[in-house]
Amino acid sequence: MSRKAGVVGVVAVLALLGLGAGRLLALGAGFGSTASAAPVVEGPLDRPGLIARGRYLATIGGCVACHTAQGGKPYAGGRMLSTPFGAIPSSNITPDPATGIGRWHFDDFWRAMHTGKGRRGERLYPAFPYTSYTKLRRDDVLAIFAYLRSLSPVNQPRKALGLSFPYSVRSSLLAWRALYFDEGVYQPDPGRSVAWNRGAYLVQGLGHCNECHAPRNRFGAIPRHPRLSGGLIPVLDWYAPNLSAQPGGGLQGWSTQDIVDLLKTGRSARGSVFGPMSDVVVRSTQYMRDDDLRAVATYLHSLPSPPQAPSALPASAGQPRLKQGREIYRQRCASCHGKRGQGIAGVYPPLDGNASVTEPTGINAIRSVLLGGFAPVTQANPRPYSMPPFAQQLDDAEVAAVVSYLRQAWSNNSGAVEAGDVARYRQTPVD
Ligand code: HEC
Ligand code: HEC
Ligand code: HEC
Repeated sequence: MSRKAGVVGVVAVLALLGLGAGRLLALGAGFGSTASAAPVVEGPLDRPGLIARGRYLATIGGCVACHTAQGGKPYAGGRMLSTPFGAIPSSNITPDPATGIGRWHFDDFWRAMHTGKGRRGERLYPAFPYTSYTKLRRDDVLAIFAYLRSLSPVNQPRKALGLSFPYSVRSSLLAWRALYFDEGVYQPDPGRSVAWNRGAYLVQGLGHCNECHAPRNRFGAIPRHPRLSGGLIPVLDWYAPNLSAQPGGGLQGWSTQDIVDLLKTGRSARGSVFGPMSDVVVRSTQYMRDDDLRAVATYLHSLPSPPQAPSALPASAGQPRLKQGREIYRQRCASCHGKRGQGIAGVYPPLDGNASVTEPTGINAIRSVLLGGFAPVTQANPRPYSMPPFAQQLDDAEVAAVVSYLRQAWSNNSGAVEAGDVARYRQTPVD
């Protein structure tokens, strides 16, 4: 009792001296179990069933993608994540005691996943999508922890933050968190089916689909509403389209099967994946069980029509440019994508009604034409068809002409792009 009072006293004095909260918690922990809650007993971690479930959940969560450096050991961290504010290294989440999570209790891990705070209470940068993972249930987080603890430890110290002041100071996140972070486990909607709730849980939580498929404000935050309404991914310069299947939505006309196919194989009768979505399919959604894929599709199918996305582009390219674009399309593209942009099911994606062609920025079509398209190799589609890059064959004006044509041909009706836009995205690094 007196010992506990002592800790509180020290804490109060330190608080008066203006030391940060993270430091206080670190000191508090040093006083033994009275200062921090005793770890909740959750049963042994080395149960094979628990580990297998955790492995599945970690795969869907895409943890390995961010927590592995190029050519590095899986989960040992050190990948630098680019943000408009600078680069943030991912942490080592293998069970190494010195540099990983080997000394962590489950409560430490829960706090990181649920509240976005590190083991010493320090605020974590939202490049770690705890803004989505906060929705995870405790039993699922426990399974992921058990899986990570079953990996071989890798000794790899944390890399330095590549952020400039004031972003380099973790307390700068205080206001950000207050404004943009809603902590809380997903609450099932009793008015909806089990499948719908499972889909919502996966999309909003583990799948962290909103981290790309929603607009971000200038503080890098996702406004609370509207969700999954489409967004430009900063730095990477790809547009993740709106995921509503209603009229005007990016998945308009998609059946449940189309969505399942895309997430499982990387292609569907409606379109195929490229850019960052290719990584998502390769590392995570191709491994989703069929019932989970259908649950995700059920949830996406219920999303309301999107608000009209503001487009800064001119409505029309003008007749001469459209004519030039039509001619380029006929010569270079129609053999695969079809005269009317209808594609060939299972081989070449249609360009008519394709959200990646009609999205508000034009970036995806411009970059697809420049870079070509290499759909990912997945278990279900081991030899995908690809598209040659046109960066060498077509100049900026020609790319702008053919992309403007695509965006206005057939049933498509989106703004034209300029040669200057093409010049800009030629410079964007591929990864
Ligand atoms: C989009 C990239 C990304 C994904 C996906 C991601 N993380 Fe992270 N994670 C990070 C970054 C970056 C940090 C470091 C944040 C910081 O230093 O403030 C981090 C930090 C953490 C931490 C805190 C470690 C520490 O030392 O404080 C834990 C725990 C963690 N991640 C677990 C996971 C798990 C489990 C998953 C999958 C369910 C996951 N992460 C998925 C980027 C990611
Ligand atoms: C790292 C960023 C990122 C994450 C995370 C992400 N996506 Fe995507 N997604 C994209 C981008 C960029 C595109 C556009 C390129 C394309 O069509 O492949 C896209 C496209 C799609 C498309 C196809 C649209 C079309 O017209 O072809 C679907 C469906 C989709 N995503 C679903 C999801 C779901 C479901 C999740 C969560 C489980 C998710 N995405 C998570 C970036 C992301
Ligand atoms: C040899 C066949 C072939 C030719 C020629 C070709 N494409 Fe493609 N195109 C593809 C394939 C295959 C994909 C899917 C690649 C992927 O998933 O990454 C694709 C993807 C695309 C996409 C992204 C849409 C989506 O959903 O994946 C656009 C936009 C596009 N092509 C436009 C064009 C234009 C414009 C031309 C002519 C300048 C062209 N293509 C020529 C085969 C071709």
